[in-house]
Amino acid sequence: MCGIFAYLNYNVARERRYIMEVLFNGLRRLEYRGYDSAGIAIDADLRQGAGYGRVEAERMPPYDSLPPLVFRQEGKIESLVRSVYSDVDAMDLNLEESFPVHAGIAHTRWATHGVPAPRNSHPQSSDAWNEFLVVHNGIITNYEVLKETLVRHGFTFESETDTEVIPKLAKFVFDKAREEGEQTATFSQVVTEVMRQLEGAFALIFKSAHYPNELIACTRGSTLILGVKELTDDKVRGKLFHDVKDLTKDEKPKELFFSSDLCAIVEHTKNYLAIEDNEVVHIKDGCVSILKFDYGREKPASVQRALSVLEMEVEQIKKGNYDHFMQKEIHEQPHSLTTTMRGRLKDNSVVLGGLKEHLKTIRHSRRIIFIGCGTSYNAALAARPLFEELSGIPVTMELASDLQDRQGPIYREDTAVFVSQSGETADTLLALEYAFANGALCVGVTNTVGSTIARKTHCGIHINAGCEIGVASTKAYTSQIVAMAMMALAIGADRISTQARRQSIVDDLSNLPNKVSEVLKLDGEMRDLAESLIDTQSLLVFGRGYNYATALEGALKVKEVALMHSEGMLAGEMKHGPLALVDETLPIIVIATRDACFSKQQSVIQQLHARKGRLIIMCSEGDASSVRPVESCKVIEVPRVADCLQPVINVIPLQLLAYHLTVLRGFDVDQPRNLAKSVTTQ
Ligand code: F6R
Repeated sequence: MCGIFAYLNYNVARERRYIMEVLFNGLRRLEYRGYDSAGIAIDADLRQGAGYGRVEAERMPPYDSLPPLVFRQEGKIESLVRSVYSDVDAMDLNLEESFPVHAGIAHTRWATHGVPAPRNSHPQSSDAWNEFLVVHNGIITNYEVLKETLVRHGFTFESETDTEVIPKLAKFVFDKAREEGEQTATFSQVVTEVMRQLEGAFALIFKSAHYPNELIACTRGSTLILGVKELTDDKVRGKLFHDVKDLTKDEKPKELFFSSDLCAIVEHTKNYLAIEDNEVVHIKDGCVSILKFDYGREKPASVQRALSVLEMEVEQIKKGNYDHFMQKEIHEQPHSLTTTMRGRLKDNSVVLGGLKEHLKTIRHSRRIIFIGCGTSYNAALAARPLFEELSGIPVTMELASDLQDRQGPIYREDTAVFVSQSGETADTLLALEYAFANGALCVGVTNTVGSTIARKTHCGIHINAGCEIGVASTKAYTSQIVAMAMMALAIGADRISTQARRQSIVDDLSNLPNKVSEVLKLDGEMRDLAESLIDTQSLLVFGRGYNYATALEGALKVKEVALMHSEGMLAGEMKHGPLALVDETLPIIVIATRDACFSKQQSVIQQLHARKGRLIIMCSEGDASSVRPVESCKVIEVPRVADCLQPVINVIPLQLLAYHLTVLRGFDVDQPRNLAKSVTTQ
């Protein structure tokens, strides 16, 4: 669960400072994926410069090219930036030195194996001369076996990471080929041999002093993007990829990038390629060649791919006038919901191109299973009642990790819906592989084009919420609910009995962005509420029906960013235990907006009030007097929409509350303690 990035300039000279800044900026865009430590590798002529930079002749590296220099630092990107500039200064390296071609790699880490420390940061290296360097996202499951073998061959290890075996294995393969053969192995031969020996899920970028100015990236089960800048577009975009080498020098790309996601590429180029599993992408002399492993075959085969054009604007990855990404993403929900629905609500019905071919199979499935983690699970839970109502098919819910722990039964007559903002979450991905192997129809609901879940499912919907950078998911949650509501409408579209109901939901969907704009006006009120709760230890949120999910999600937001204990609870379960917690001090938010459960929630309020509960009630506009047990009770009035869409409205005041609580309590909003955006390890 890290971010990897690389930049190669070709055909255009770039100064050292520029190269470093491109790498740092790439990392800044990816920092949300992990922020324990970071590192970069660039080239330098150590014979120039003073002090540390000067090497004596007898200590020259065992190759002719410039030695790669590695900088690694614990903490956030800015601490890496400061330390690199200070080291470069101490080494007397010229920031204005220009490179006609240069390959740099970079990494931001969320620790899995080994504490956050420079030795465990990436790039990880093969040896003191950095003959092979690797940045890695994912996990190598057989690293202990590989390490034992490498140690037997005389390698010593400095880190506690699983990654360190990779560059060392590359050096081992390289040295062995050199010892055995007359010719040196090519970079791709080395990397394909390394990849053949690795198990687990990974995206890797290799840089090597033996192959200067080249980069290789490969992936298995983890998203990796190639970005290509300044092509003569018409000529190359959409053309077969290996034809790039037939281009003249002027037509070749000037700058190429690898990145864990599109957010770090969009400010440079819109031409991209989502690298597929088991592909090895090699950049050399301005050419890109791709080899693909087919494990049935001895040798990987060369493959031809076409570039895609990214539909994302640079503004999406900038904070604009907001202080934090989470704040921006909460406030842009009218827009993100509009894009989720764009082109999909037609003539009072729903058109979902990604599902069209499979709707019949879904309608005939024996069961629909929603699978996800965290916020994505909550979104599915919010959509579940509508699915049951409109499809008439039993719908079950699975937390991805729990499904695997139990190896719960999944059948070929099932439709398994995988909900994931990032499309990369390891637990969800493993559950997908499991459902796939059991023959279920696998449907993806993701926000990330080209993500692993999007690629590995049979069909699906992109929620199109735009890049979500704040670690706490906000706009993706509401877009997931809306995407799944549209999916339920599409599945139920063959039933005459529900036509009027479907029509009214479609009407409310069209008007939903306006209602979201209205509820966002509660911002100031939520800030005041946050002030009144700033010192409390704990918070409970009670919901039921459509808004059980809202209670879970509201509590999750408060927990993860404001670092305050909070629990979302099913109000129907209150008297079966949680009631014991109620006293004058514990704040309890009760969601009591209008729907079939309204009167039950009214009695919950009465029961809590009878036990002197410190109540905060969320109700539909105009209902304050019917829900408030006493005048002093805090009430949050929200606009009313169709019951199945009400969770979209109701969660927003809770997102705002979590945001303001975090700011007031002085915690990091966008990068909460110990968390990362996409959890690519189990
Ligand atoms: C909470 C949050 C997490 C994610 C969970 C699944 O704000 O973001 O709970 O929802 O880690 O991630 P995705 O949706 O990327 O699969």
